[in-house]
Amino acid sequence: MSLVNLLRKTCRKTFFTTPSHARRFFIYHKLRNLYKYDISETEAYNPQEALSKAQERVAKIYGTKSTNFLLNGSTSGIIASVLTCVSAGDKVLIWQDAHPCHANALKLAGAIPVYYNLEIDKDFGVPLAVKPEAIENTLKKEKVKAVIVTSPTYEGIVSDIPAIKSLCEKYGAYLIVDEAHGALYPFSDNLPQSAVKIADFTVQSLHKTAGGLNPTALLHCNCELDTSEALKLISTTSPSYPLLASIEANITYLNSKRGRKNLENIISTIQSLKGACPNCQFSGDDVTKILVKHPKYTGYELSEILFEKYSIEDEKTNEKSTMLLCGIGTSEKSLNQLFNALRHIK
Ligand SMILES: Cc1ncc(COP(=O)(O)O)c(C=O)c1O
Repeated sequence: MSLVNLLRKTCRKTFFTTPSHARRFFIYHKLRNLYKYDISETEAYNPQEALSKAQERVAKIYGTKSTNFLLNGSTSGIIASVLTCVSAGDKVLIWQDAHPCHANALKLAGAIPVYYNLEIDKDFGVPLAVKPEAIENTLKKEKVKAVIVTSPTYEGIVSDIPAIKSLCEKYGAYLIVDEAHGALYPFSDNLPQSAVKIADFTVQSLHKTAGGLNPTALLHCNCELDTSEALKLISTTSPSYPLLASIEANITYLNSKRGRKNLENIISTIQSLKGACPNCQFSGDDVTKILVKHPKYTGYELSEILFEKYSIEDEKTNEKSTMLLCGIGTSEKSLNQLFNALRHIK
């Protein structure tokens, strides 16, 4: 039985177990349904079995060796990956400006960071893709146990993951890909290629672009190692089954005809609106991240105009450009509002 159906099941047993709200003492009434679905590992429900079956089904959808549902974001996926493949004293190659969870994962593992830098795109002020040659130069010199690559970057710049994976294989290093911002990639041929079937470990935040609730995420594994011990080390023993069921429902939707059609509509709408906005310049490998610059304004000025004059808030801004994040929930109405504003800023 799916997790979603298991939570819907009515049960006539009387519970003297956790959680003590007993699914009917709704302290915060607006979240009534959340309380109703909030169960523990009881004999009557046995959600662990439904969870492991759900994870197996999902791994088949992604084509991975294993996929784990995460309830502490990509942060916990990066930490679990590092703890799985790295021992104290090992060297790990990481990007100097990566999300703090990369350095924190190394601290927890007792690993030694070796840093690489990324060039900055002069026009848009954002980091460029990882150069495989630069990775190889370090791998030649240092005995590195794992390499962590952020692809896509926050702004939608994608690195050549197959090439980096080949280098990691050549030099005996594990490849961990932080695909926190690329959770939609496995579901469209019009988005960059996902790392889920290539890297040893790939981490994706469902909550960022794929319509998931904060802080749902996934850890995909394709190597011989088992992530379950590391996950146990950093996870609660009382997971939220409503959130876990939302992950199952999320992936079922993304993989459905309806979900895929919705995604393709969003992609084609953004593509055609960009084409009809000649007064701005766009960049990036991922069409769903609208990385835009205006010839007359800095990124900060453009961001301020959008916010103050058009009530539009962007995701991230730098001196040169600003980035507006889209995802599975972005409506055509919002996109029209944004591009009308961009066309009017003269
Ligand atoms: C590139 C990158 N990696 C990892 C994370 C952590 O993701 P989460 O918030 O899902 O823990 C973030 C969050 O902003 C991020 O931008």
